[in-house]
Amino acid sequence: MSFESASAAPRGEEHQLRLASKAKAPPITDTPIDRKAREARRLSTLLEVSQALGGTLDLKSALHRVLDILGRHHGAIRSMVTLLQDGGELLVEASDGLDEPTRAVRYRIGEGITGRVVETGKPVVVPRVSHEPMFLRRAARRPELRDQELSFVCVPIVLNRKPVGALGVDLAFKPERDYERSVKFLGVVASMIAQALKIQRLIEEERGRLLAENTHLRQELRERYDFSNIIGTSGPVRQMYEQVAQVARTNTTVLIRGESGTGKELIAHAIHYNSLRAKKPFIKISCAALPDTLIESELFGYEKGAFTGADARKKGRFELAEGGTLFLDEIGDVNLATQVKLLRVLQEREFERVGGTETIKVNVRLIAATNKDLERAITEGTLREDLFYRLNVFTIFVPPLRERKVDLLLLADHFLEKFSREHGKIIKRISTPAIDMLMSYHWPGNVRELENAIERAVLMCDGQVIHAHHLPPTLQTAEASGTVTHVSLRDAVIAYEKDLIQDALKTTRGNRAKAARLLDTTERVVNYKVRKYGVDAERFKK
Ligand SMILES: Nc1ncnc2c1ncn2[C@@H]1O[C@H](COP(=O)(O)OP(=O)(O)OP(=O)(O)O)[C@@H](O)[C@H]1O
Ligand SMILES: [Mg+2]
Repeated sequence: MSFESASAAPRGEEHQLRLASKAKAPPITDTPIDRKAREARRLSTLLEVSQALGGTLDLKSALHRVLDILGRHHGAIRSMVTLLQDGGELLVEASDGLDEPTRAVRYRIGEGITGRVVETGKPVVVPRVSHEPMFLRRAARRPELRDQELSFVCVPIVLNRKPVGALGVDLAFKPERDYERSVKFLGVVASMIAQALKIQRLIEEERGRLLAENTHLRQELRERYDFSNIIGTSGPVRQMYEQVAQVARTNTTVLIRGESGTGKELIAHAIHYNSLRAKKPFIKISCAALPDTLIESELFGYEKGAFTGADARKKGRFELAEGGTLFLDEIGDVNLATQVKLLRVLQEREFERVGGTETIKVNVRLIAATNKDLERAITEGTLREDLFYRLNVFTIFVPPLRERKVDLLLLADHFLEKFSREHGKIIKRISTPAIDMLMSYHWPGNVRELENAIERAVLMCDGQVIHAHHLPPTLQTAEASGTVTHVSLRDAVIAYEKDLIQDALKTTRGNRAKAARLLDTTERVVNYKVRKYGVDAERFKK
């Protein structure tokens, strides 16, 4: 509890306080030598105070030290610093000499002497606390101080011309005390506290900004590579999630196998960003994209002068991935000489740069991916068996899209939403004939092919619905759709034609003449087909 009552000062008393603060100091009876000594003490106190405030970024502990200094050198019996909080409340930030210093004391602005000082921004002096009714209660509770007469000096802490707190000090009552000097001296201490507060708030603001930015960036990364980014609920995909979760937090080498476009790179990202290495780099190297002559220097780096054109040392991908993950994409395309070197890194975690002799140790987790039949590559002699066994520690098979038709619609919807947003279109759904077409196609290019097909459809679509004719030609032919045995060419053409006519009628709100123009034909032909296919043209007029 504070030595000052938190209850509001009665109006009459406030008047008395103002008077008290303005009361003329009694005549000073000490000698000039005494005064000089006091001045020197004040200066050395100020120096100590400034050192205490400048010595740490922890404001609370700095304030405690300042109050302690005031107690030791300046006769402060009790002291406290209160600061204004966001809610307008005053809270004791640090105190010295209080009977219960840890207990939180709150004031409202304008309440009690401290509250008034913060409200008005003006110092208040109470020369004899015992003459103030509001202090009597406190004295009664502190028997050891009951006999001692105290003076209370409270000065505002001002930041950017606004009072943001107060420094209050209890001193032993001395009739000859020069209160104006005390107020001035404590005013200097308060302004030093204000400076420290300013610096602390600037640092906190900057820290808060950096934290917010960091959280935002990490959130962005998580959104991009989190599991939630991998669409699919089919059995094989769920099994894949489990495998990723199981292996992500280990350092095990992972081999991801699956046809082209099945999402192998997505899985590699998910492993890295769910691992303990998530904050370290994820480096990718596409082995098929590099000629044999370049792949080694890309992987391991080179020394200056290693070959013509090497005019400075360059770090390889292994070094760049230090502490993180290296993703060796299309590992099935690496030549035999490089395979030997890769094997050594996998076994010893060390290598030399091209043209160098220094052995470099690395801490890198490897993830490899391929769409090649590695077992066949071994029998054909293009893949070293020992490298295969080193890579094949934990293998994730990504199933082709045709084996997880359950996911196909989810993926199609996901891409529809994504590309509608990207191209600024409002497309609500995929028509039933178009869905049938998507479902019966065998998707040799897997998810990537589906992604491209939906993007094309979004670009072609001028209404709110994706129709069969918006899909790429590869899906249109009965042969490609693998439906040869179920649907005749005649039926497929009829369905397609009906779909086109319905779509045109929808666009023209049932106006057959306009629909004919859209389809580059005559109204007579449209009328004939509408009748033949039993299209309900009336429903488009609404
Ligand atoms: N389950 C999935 N959910 C969402 N998007 C997916 C999914 N699987 C694949 N994709 C998307 O499909 C595209 C192809 O995926 P990715 O590049 O990972 O395939 P890949 O197996 O590495 O192919 P390649 O062998 O040709 O390199 C990417 O745009 C990816 O975002
Ligand atoms: Mg890939």
